[in-house]
Amino acid sequence: MTIQEMYLKMKEKLRDVVPDPELRIKAELAYEINRLKAERNAVILGHNYMEPALYYSIPDFVGDSLELSRKAAQTDKDIIIFCGVRFMAETAKILNPAKTVLLPSEKAGCSLAASITAADVRNLRAQFPGVPVVTYVNTYADVKAESDVCCTSSNAAAVVKSLGSDVVIFLPDEYLARNVAAETGKRIIFPRKGGADVQADFQLVGWEGRCEVHEKFTVDDIVNVRKQFPDVLVLAHPECSPEVVEASDFSGSTTAMERFVRESKAPRYLLLTECAMGDNVAAANPDKEMLRLCNIRCPHMNQITLEDTLEALRKTRYVIEVPEDVRVKAARAVERMIAIG
Ligand code: 13P
Ligand code: SF4
Repeated sequence: MTIQEMYLKMKEKLRDVVPDPELRIKAELAYEINRLKAERNAVILGHNYMEPALYYSIPDFVGDSLELSRKAAQTDKDIIIFCGVRFMAETAKILNPAKTVLLPSEKAGCSLAASITAADVRNLRAQFPGVPVVTYVNTYADVKAESDVCCTSSNAAAVVKSLGSDVVIFLPDEYLARNVAAETGKRIIFPRKGGADVQADFQLVGWEGRCEVHEKFTVDDIVNVRKQFPDVLVLAHPECSPEVVEASDFSGSTTAMERFVRESKAPRYLLLTECAMGDNVAAANPDKEMLRLCNIRCPHMNQITLEDTLEALRKTRYVIEVPEDVRVKAARAVERMIAIG
Protein backbone atom coordinates (compact mmCIF):
# COMPACT_ATOMS: atom_id res chain seq x y z
CA MET A 1 0.00 0.00 0.00
CA THR A 2 1.37 3.47 -0.93
CA ILE A 3 1.11 6.55 1.32
CA GLN A 4 -1.71 7.86 -0.90
CA GLU A 5 -3.61 4.57 -0.61
CA MET A 6 -3.15 4.65 3.17
CA TYR A 7 -4.46 8.23 3.25
CA LEU A 8 -7.52 7.27 1.19
CA LYS A 9 -8.22 4.22 3.39
CA MET A 10 -8.09 6.39 6.53
CA LYS A 11 -10.13 9.17 4.92
CA GLU A 12 -12.93 6.74 4.08
CA LYS A 13 -13.53 6.16 7.81
CA LEU A 14 -12.29 9.42 9.32
CA ARG A 15 -13.39 12.20 6.95
CA ASP A 16 -15.84 13.55 9.59
CA VAL A 17 -13.60 12.87 12.59
CA VAL A 18 -10.01 13.99 11.75
CA PRO A 19 -9.17 17.25 9.86
CA ASP A 20 -7.62 16.59 6.44
CA PRO A 21 -4.14 18.17 7.01
CA GLU A 22 -3.73 16.01 10.13
CA LEU A 23 -4.94 12.95 8.29
CA ARG A 24 -2.21 13.40 5.65
CA ILE A 25 0.50 13.56 8.32
CA LYS A 26 -0.95 10.54 10.15
CA ALA A 27 -1.16 8.57 6.91
CA GLU A 28 2.59 9.06 6.34
CA LEU A 29 3.34 7.85 9.86
CA ALA A 30 1.00 4.87 9.49
CA TYR A 31 2.59 3.93 6.15
CA GLU A 32 6.07 3.89 7.70
CA ILE A 33 4.89 1.91 10.76
CA ASN A 34 3.24 -0.72 8.56
CA ARG A 35 6.37 -0.98 6.40
CA LEU A 36 8.59 -1.53 9.44
CA LYS A 37 6.04 -3.88 11.01
CA ALA A 38 6.31 -6.20 8.01
CA GLU A 39 10.11 -5.88 7.85
CA ARG A 40 10.46 -6.83 11.54
CA ASN A 41 7.78 -9.55 11.56
CA ALA A 42 5.73 -7.70 14.19
CA VAL A 43 2.04 -7.70 15.09
CA ILE A 44 0.24 -4.62 16.42
CA LEU A 45 -2.61 -5.03 18.90
CA GLY A 46 -4.76 -1.92 19.42
CA HIS A 47 -7.18 -1.37 22.30
CA ASN A 48 -10.59 0.18 21.53
CA TYR A 49 -9.45 3.38 23.32
CA MET A 50 -6.76 4.25 20.78
CA GLU A 51 -7.16 7.58 18.97
CA PRO A 52 -9.03 7.19 15.65
CA ALA A 53 -6.07 7.84 13.32
CA LEU A 54 -4.14 5.04 15.04
CA TYR A 55 -7.11 2.72 15.54
CA TYR A 56 -8.01 2.80 11.84
CA SER A 57 -4.52 2.47 10.38
CA ILE A 58 -1.90 0.24 12.03
CA PRO A 59 -3.39 -2.47 14.30
CA ASP A 60 -3.67 -6.01 12.94
CA PHE A 61 -6.29 -6.59 15.61
CA VAL A 62 -8.41 -4.20 17.68
CA GLY A 63 -10.64 -5.09 20.61
CA ASP A 64 -11.23 -5.15 24.35
CA SER A 65 -8.82 -6.58 26.93
CA LEU A 66 -10.08 -10.15 26.61
CA GLU A 67 -10.02 -10.21 22.80
CA LEU A 68 -6.50 -8.77 22.72
CA SER A 69 -5.26 -11.30 25.34
CA ARG A 70 -6.57 -14.04 23.04
CA LYS A 71 -4.83 -12.54 20.02
CA ALA A 72 -1.60 -12.20 22.01
CA ALA A 73 -1.84 -15.88 22.97
CA GLN A 74 -2.27 -16.93 19.32
CA THR A 75 0.31 -14.83 17.45
CA ASP A 76 3.29 -16.41 15.68
CA LYS A 77 5.07 -13.05 15.06
CA ASP A 78 8.45 -12.27 16.68
CA ILE A 79 7.44 -8.88 18.09
CA ILE A 80 4.16 -7.79 19.71
CA ILE A 81 3.56 -4.04 19.87
CA PHE A 82 0.79 -3.28 22.31
CA CYS A 83 -1.05 -0.03 21.61
CA GLY A 84 -2.73 0.04 25.01
CA VAL A 85 -1.45 0.31 28.59
CA ARG A 86 1.27 -1.49 30.55
CA PHE A 87 -0.88 -4.17 32.19
CA MET A 88 -2.10 -5.23 28.73
CA ALA A 89 1.45 -5.44 27.35
CA GLU A 90 2.49 -7.40 30.45
CA THR A 91 -0.34 -9.85 29.85
CA ALA A 92 0.96 -10.37 26.30
CA LYS A 93 4.46 -11.02 27.70
CA ILE A 94 3.09 -13.43 30.33
CA LEU A 95 1.58 -15.46 27.48
CA ASN A 96 4.62 -15.14 25.17
CA PRO A 97 7.86 -15.36 27.17
CA ALA A 98 10.01 -15.96 24.07
CA LYS A 99 8.69 -12.95 22.11
CA THR A 100 9.66 -9.29 22.32
CA VAL A 101 6.74 -7.23 23.63
CA LEU A 102 6.88 -3.44 23.17
CA LEU A 103 4.79 -0.68 24.75
CA PRO A 104 5.17 2.62 22.84
CA SER A 105 5.10 4.80 25.99
CA GLU A 106 6.68 4.27 29.40
CA LYS A 107 3.96 6.39 30.98
CA ALA A 108 0.92 4.31 30.00
CA GLY A 109 -0.14 3.05 33.45
CA CYS A 110 -3.62 2.58 34.95
CA SER A 111 -5.12 3.83 38.24
CA LEU A 112 -6.65 0.41 38.91
CA ALA A 113 -3.35 -1.44 38.41
CA ALA A 114 -1.65 1.10 40.72
CA SER A 115 -4.25 0.57 43.48
CA ILE A 116 -3.02 -2.81 44.75
CA THR A 117 0.24 -4.68 45.41
CA ALA A 118 1.16 -8.35 45.61
CA ALA A 119 1.62 -7.92 49.40
CA ASP A 120 -1.97 -6.63 49.65
CA VAL A 121 -3.21 -9.83 47.99
CA ARG A 122 -1.10 -12.01 50.33
CA ASN A 123 -2.55 -10.13 53.33
CA LEU A 124 -6.10 -10.74 52.13
CA ARG A 125 -5.33 -14.44 51.64
CA ALA A 126 -4.06 -14.58 55.24
CA GLN A 127 -7.23 -12.83 56.43
CA PHE A 128 -9.55 -15.13 54.41
CA PRO A 129 -7.74 -18.49 54.26
CA GLY A 130 -8.81 -20.87 51.50
CA VAL A 131 -10.93 -18.24 49.68
CA PRO A 132 -10.16 -18.08 45.92
CA VAL A 133 -8.82 -14.81 44.50
CA VAL A 134 -10.08 -13.30 41.22
CA THR A 135 -8.14 -10.32 39.90
CA TYR A 136 -9.19 -8.00 37.13
CA VAL A 137 -6.63 -7.99 34.25
CA ASN A 138 -6.11 -4.29 35.06
CA THR A 139 -3.35 -5.32 37.51
CA TYR A 140 0.41 -5.82 37.24
CA ALA A 141 2.05 -9.22 36.77
CA ASP A 142 3.07 -9.69 40.43
CA VAL A 143 -0.56 -9.22 41.53
CA LYS A 144 -1.78 -11.66 38.87
CA ALA A 145 0.83 -14.12 40.17
CA GLU A 146 -0.86 -14.09 43.61
CA SER A 147 -4.27 -14.82 42.07
CA ASP A 148 -6.15 -18.00 41.21
CA VAL A 149 -7.76 -16.59 38.08
CA CYS A 150 -8.01 -13.30 36.19
CA CYS A 151 -11.08 -11.74 34.59
CA THR A 152 -11.94 -8.83 32.32
CA SER A 153 -15.02 -6.64 32.19
CA SER A 154 -16.54 -9.01 29.63
CA ASN A 155 -16.31 -12.20 31.72
CA ALA A 156 -16.12 -11.07 35.39
CA ALA A 157 -19.45 -12.58 36.51
CA ALA A 158 -18.80 -15.81 34.54
CA VAL A 159 -15.37 -16.20 36.18
CA VAL A 160 -16.81 -15.66 39.68
CA LYS A 161 -19.60 -18.20 39.00
CA SER A 162 -17.13 -20.72 37.53
CA LEU A 163 -15.36 -21.01 40.89
CA GLY A 164 -18.43 -22.51 42.56
CA SER A 165 -17.19 -21.09 45.86
CA ASP A 166 -19.39 -19.64 48.64
CA VAL A 167 -16.95 -16.74 49.09
CA VAL A 168 -14.68 -15.08 46.48
CA ILE A 169 -12.06 -12.33 46.84
CA PHE A 170 -12.51 -9.96 43.87
CA LEU A 171 -9.79 -7.33 43.25
CA PRO A 172 -9.10 -4.44 42.83
CA ASP A 173 -11.97 -2.48 41.21
CA GLU A 174 -14.57 -1.51 43.81
CA TYR A 175 -17.20 -0.61 41.24
CA LEU A 176 -16.70 -3.65 39.02
CA ALA A 177 -16.94 -5.80 42.17
CA ARG A 178 -20.15 -4.05 43.24
CA ASN A 179 -21.56 -4.52 39.72
CA VAL A 180 -20.62 -8.23 39.74
CA ALA A 181 -22.18 -8.56 43.21
CA ALA A 182 -25.40 -7.02 41.88
CA GLU A 183 -25.38 -9.27 38.79
CA THR A 184 -24.70 -12.48 40.74
CA GLY A 185 -26.88 -11.58 43.75
CA LYS A 186 -23.88 -11.74 46.13
CA ARG A 187 -23.38 -9.60 49.24
CA ILE A 188 -20.04 -7.76 49.23
CA ILE A 189 -17.74 -6.43 51.98
CA PHE A 190 -14.69 -4.17 51.90
CA PRO A 191 -12.48 -5.34 54.78
CA ARG A 192 -10.33 -2.20 54.81
CA LYS A 193 -13.44 -0.17 55.63
CA GLY A 194 -13.79 -2.43 58.71
CA GLY A 195 -16.73 -2.07 61.15
CA ALA A 196 -19.96 -4.02 61.26
CA ASP A 197 -19.77 -4.92 57.55
CA VAL A 198 -16.95 -7.38 58.22
CA GLN A 199 -19.14 -9.30 60.65
CA ALA A 200 -22.00 -9.55 58.16
CA ASP A 201 -22.82 -12.55 56.06
CA PHE A 202 -20.94 -11.96 52.77
CA GLN A 203 -19.92 -13.76 49.57
CA LEU A 204 -17.61 -11.28 47.83
CA VAL A 205 -14.59 -9.54 49.35
CA GLY A 206 -13.66 -6.32 47.55
CA TRP A 207 -10.94 -3.65 47.38
CA GLU A 208 -11.21 0.12 46.91
CA GLY A 209 -9.44 0.54 43.54
CA ARG A 210 -11.12 2.90 41.07
CA CYS A 211 -10.73 3.75 37.41
CA GLU A 212 -9.92 7.46 37.43
CA VAL A 213 -12.04 7.93 34.29
CA HIS A 214 -15.17 5.87 34.94
CA GLU A 215 -15.53 6.85 38.60
CA LYS A 216 -16.21 10.45 37.50
CA PHE A 217 -19.41 9.76 35.55
CA THR A 218 -22.53 10.50 37.63
CA VAL A 219 -26.25 9.77 37.56
CA ASP A 220 -26.75 13.55 37.17
CA ASP A 221 -24.77 13.41 33.91
CA ILE A 222 -27.22 10.81 32.63
CA VAL A 223 -30.31 12.69 33.86
CA ASN A 224 -29.13 15.93 32.22
CA VAL A 225 -28.28 14.29 28.89
CA ARG A 226 -31.64 12.48 28.86
CA LYS A 227 -33.39 15.84 29.46
CA GLN A 228 -31.60 17.36 26.47
CA PHE A 229 -31.91 14.26 24.22
CA PRO A 230 -34.94 12.19 25.33
CA ASP A 231 -34.27 9.51 22.67
CA VAL A 232 -30.66 8.82 23.76
CA LEU A 233 -29.51 5.31 24.72
CA VAL A 234 -26.94 5.36 27.53
CA LEU A 235 -24.05 2.86 27.61
CA ALA A 236 -21.79 2.58 30.68
CA HIS A 237 -18.62 0.53 31.16
CA PRO A 238 -18.83 -1.72 34.28
CA GLU A 239 -15.99 0.29 35.88
CA CYS A 240 -18.68 2.98 36.44
CA SER A 241 -20.49 3.07 39.79
CA PRO A 242 -23.47 0.69 40.24
CA GLU A 243 -25.76 3.76 40.39
CA VAL A 244 -24.53 4.90 36.95
CA VAL A 245 -24.82 1.36 35.55
CA GLU A 246 -28.36 1.12 36.97
CA ALA A 247 -29.35 4.42 35.35
CA SER A 248 -27.96 3.31 31.96
CA ASP A 249 -29.61 1.26 29.20
CA PHE A 250 -26.64 -1.08 28.71
CA SER A 251 -23.38 -1.97 30.44
CA GLY A 252 -20.57 -4.08 29.01
CA SER A 253 -16.93 -4.22 27.96
CA THR A 254 -15.63 -1.78 25.36
CA THR A 255 -16.30 -4.27 22.55
CA ALA A 256 -19.74 -5.13 23.94
CA MET A 257 -20.61 -1.42 23.86
CA GLU A 258 -19.35 -1.10 20.28
CA ARG A 259 -21.45 -4.14 19.27
CA PHE A 260 -24.53 -2.76 21.05
CA VAL A 261 -24.36 0.48 19.00
CA ARG A 262 -23.71 -1.42 15.74
CA GLU A 263 -26.71 -3.71 16.30
CA SER A 264 -29.16 -1.06 17.62
CA LYS A 265 -31.39 1.18 15.55
CA ALA A 266 -31.54 4.22 17.87
CA PRO A 267 -30.31 7.52 16.35
CA ARG A 268 -28.31 8.71 19.39
CA TYR A 269 -26.06 7.18 22.11
CA LEU A 270 -24.21 8.43 25.18
CA LEU A 271 -20.97 6.48 25.73
CA LEU A 272 -19.78 6.67 29.34
CA THR A 273 -16.20 5.57 28.73
CA GLU A 274 -12.92 6.94 27.34
CA CYS A 275 -13.77 9.59 24.76
CA ALA A 276 -11.58 8.28 21.92
CA MET A 277 -13.75 5.20 21.74
CA GLY A 278 -16.70 7.46 20.93
CA ASP A 279 -14.77 8.77 17.92
CA ASN A 280 -14.01 5.22 16.76
CA VAL A 281 -17.62 4.08 17.16
CA ALA A 282 -18.88 7.27 15.46
CA ALA A 283 -16.57 6.65 12.50
CA ALA A 284 -17.92 3.11 12.10
CA ASN A 285 -21.57 4.24 12.43
CA PRO A 286 -21.85 7.48 10.41
CA ASP A 287 -25.67 7.35 10.50
CA LYS A 288 -25.72 7.42 14.34
CA GLU A 289 -24.81 10.21 16.73
CA MET A 290 -22.33 9.50 19.57
CA LEU A 291 -22.52 11.78 22.60
CA ARG A 292 -19.62 11.62 25.07
CA LEU A 293 -18.19 13.57 27.97
CA CYS A 294 -14.71 14.42 26.71
CA ASN A 295 -13.66 16.49 29.72
CA ILE A 296 -12.79 13.12 31.31
CA ARG A 297 -9.94 11.35 29.50
CA CYS A 298 -7.68 8.40 30.31
CA PRO A 299 -4.22 10.00 30.66
CA HIS A 300 -2.62 6.57 30.18
CA MET A 301 -4.30 5.38 26.99
CA ASN A 302 -3.75 8.84 25.53
CA GLN A 303 0.02 8.40 25.86
CA ILE A 304 0.02 6.03 22.90
CA THR A 305 0.48 7.87 19.59
CA LEU A 306 1.48 6.97 16.03
CA GLU A 307 4.71 8.93 16.56
CA ASP A 308 5.69 6.88 19.63
CA THR A 309 4.66 3.63 17.97
CA LEU A 310 7.02 4.40 15.08
CA GLU A 311 9.84 5.14 17.54
CA ALA A 312 9.03 1.90 19.41
CA LEU A 313 9.56 -0.07 16.19
CA ARG A 314 12.65 1.87 15.12
CA LYS A 315 14.38 1.66 18.50
CA THR A 316 12.84 -1.57 19.84
CA ARG A 317 11.44 0.26 22.89
CA TYR A 318 9.99 0.00 25.53
CA VAL A 319 10.66 -3.67 26.10
CA ILE A 320 8.31 -5.33 28.63
CA GLU A 321 9.99 -7.78 30.99
CA VAL A 322 8.38 -9.99 33.63
CA PRO A 323 10.59 -12.06 36.02
CA GLU A 324 10.22 -15.74 35.11
CA ASP A 325 9.00 -16.92 38.55
CA VAL A 326 6.28 -14.23 38.52
CA ARG A 327 5.42 -14.94 34.89
CA VAL A 328 4.88 -18.66 35.43
CA LYS A 329 2.45 -18.04 38.30
CA ALA A 330 0.66 -15.18 36.51
CA ALA A 331 0.31 -17.30 33.34
CA ARG A 332 -1.76 -19.86 35.26
CA ALA A 333 -4.28 -17.17 36.28
CA VAL A 334 -4.44 -15.62 32.78
CA GLU A 335 -4.70 -18.95 30.94
CA ARG A 336 -7.44 -20.09 33.27
CA MET A 337 -9.37 -16.91 32.43
CA ILE A 338 -8.90 -17.42 28.68
CA ALA A 339 -10.16 -21.00 29.01
CA ILE A 340 -13.33 -19.78 30.79
CA GLY A 341 -13.94 -17.25 28.01
P1 13P B 1 -12.19 -3.52 28.33
O1 13P B 1 -11.67 -4.83 28.81
O2 13P B 1 -13.68 -3.41 28.41
O3 13P B 1 -11.66 -3.20 26.98
O4 13P B 1 -11.69 -2.37 29.36
C1 13P B 1 -10.36 -2.05 29.57
C2 13P B 1 -10.23 -0.78 30.29
O5 13P B 1 -9.15 -0.40 30.70
C3 13P B 1 -11.42 -0.01 30.53
O6 13P B 1 -11.11 1.17 31.16
FE1 SF4 C 1 -7.09 2.18 33.63
FE2 SF4 C 1 -9.36 3.59 33.62
FE3 SF4 C 1 -7.47 4.18 31.86
FE4 SF4 C 1 -8.88 1.88 31.62
S1 SF4 C 1 -9.65 3.98 31.43
S2 SF4 C 1 -6.65 2.11 31.42
S3 SF4 C 1 -9.17 1.35 33.79
S4 SF4 C 1 -7.30 4.38 34.10
